[in-house]
Amino acid sequence: MCPLYTEAVMEHFTNPRNVGEISDASGIGRVGNPVCGDLLWVYIKVENDIMTDVKFKTFGCGAAIATSSMVTELAKGKTLDEGLKITRKDVAENLGGLPPQKMHCSNLAADALHEAIHDYLRKQGREPPGPPDVKQPREDNSHESE
Ligand code: FES
Repeated sequence: MCPLYTEAVMEHFTNPRNVGEISDASGIGRVGNPVCGDLLWVYIKVENDIMTDVKFKTFGCGAAIATSSMVTELAKGKTLDEGLKITRKDVAENLGGLPPQKMHCSNLAADALHEAIHDYLRKQGREPPGPPDVKQPREDNSHESE
């Protein structure tokens, strides 16, 4: 077992859930970190304001893969409002934590999910909730969305 990562992180890294694209996605969120170069896309399929399917694709590190996998599991079957309440901390906690130097990786997953929900709401002509959105204050400004 890797001393840095929890069993849950290693399990989601080696067996990630919901990998891929949704060709007719209702909303797509794309976030990246220009410093490490990692990119993450989250795709959501929405029916009656419920995320019936959630998938991800990433060019990212192991922690980014594990947190992306976890966020799809947390979001699937949830309402848009519930999805917007999934925090970066929720993602990390559901994986039993991440090493401090990798916490920034977990930010991508929740941020991309929120972006996908906002994308869907904008396409519907609905105002994404604010102000200005539901993200927590950034601890690491190197993970700004592109
Ligand atoms: S090192 Fe960039 S997201 Fe993990």
